[in-house]
Amino acid sequence: SSTREKLLAEYIAPTKIDDEKITIVGLGQVGIATAFSILSQNISNHIALVDLNENKLQGEVLDLKHGCLFMGNCHVEACTDYSGTANSKICIITAGLSIGKGETRLSLVQKNTDIFKKLLPELVKYSPNTMLLIVTNPVDVMTYVSWRISGLAQCKVIGTGTNLDTSRFRFLLSQKFGVATSSCHAYIIGEHGDSSVPVWSSVDIAGVRLRDINPYAGTDKDTENWSDIHKQVINSAYQIIKLKGDTSFAIGLSTAAIAKSMLKNPINFHAVSINAKGFHGIQDDVYLSLPCLLNANGLSKIIRERLDDGERLQLQKSAEILGKVQSSVHF
Ligand code: LAC
Repeated sequence: SSTREKLLAEYIAPTKIDDEKITIVGLGQVGIATAFSILSQNISNHIALVDLNENKLQGEVLDLKHGCLFMGNCHVEACTDYSGTANSKICIITAGLSIGKGETRLSLVQKNTDIFKKLLPELVKYSPNTMLLIVTNPVDVMTYVSWRISGLAQCKVIGTGTNLDTSRFRFLLSQKFGVATSSCHAYIIGEHGDSSVPVWSSVDIAGVRLRDINPYAGTDKDTENWSDIHKQVINSAYQIIKLKGDTSFAIGLSTAAIAKSMLKNPINFHAVSINAKGFHGIQDDVYLSLPCLLNANGLSKIIRERLDDGERLQLQKSAEILGKVQSSVHF
């Protein structure tokens, strides 16, 4: 008998438990940062990775596997075809072109749609009950495109949206006040991009509303120019791309946090991209971010946020911009 048989008296053949399986399609900087975030936080112990570049795929999988001792003995699979993604609880899509210097996210929509037309049907074929978590930019439009192409229920198709913008907003507020980010409650909604909307009217620091202290915070009447923080949020990605060529860690951590809520159901809110029709006067099927509760079935609740008139108008403007790009997509 083999060494293994001398060591292990086997009673029942091992089974593959897929109940937490997450597939990540696209192993660029964002995809690999997402994989690393999920594994190092033990959000899932089973990930399947897909990339067109086979050497890159095999190299990244090997490198992650060698760290499995430190990451809860996770199971990492390289999928050279989509059958290996079967029975995924969540399929995270980072594949596609990302913005270069001087580009905006919206300019990528048709090229990335053409890529999605190939990969989405394959994913859904092997995981018909999966939830899609879209990262690829322009993420709001790509989430709409994924909903249309996949044929999955609306609640199963979610985009990372302004979860990252909200994180940047809360970080910058925390720096301004010198307090923990977790004590700065604030949301950015709308487009993950240039028309995003900071909800200044509901910003609170440890329970104290910012507008109760400075009624003009976030407006052009504010002598302290708090609105500059939102300008820094919008400029963040462009600034980082100029410095290091792309963004990766914050979007990877943001995506992992959303995936955790979709697996573990901690009932906390994320500003994520969903079909906003019927909210704040939006009358069309437009995907943009609102604070949502996610669970193992996908989109569970959307908060009925109280926006002031200016914020409502800004959100409708964001919806109009996104709606125009959405209707320009050729399926
Ligand atoms: C960013 C990319 C993910 O904002 O859009 O970093």
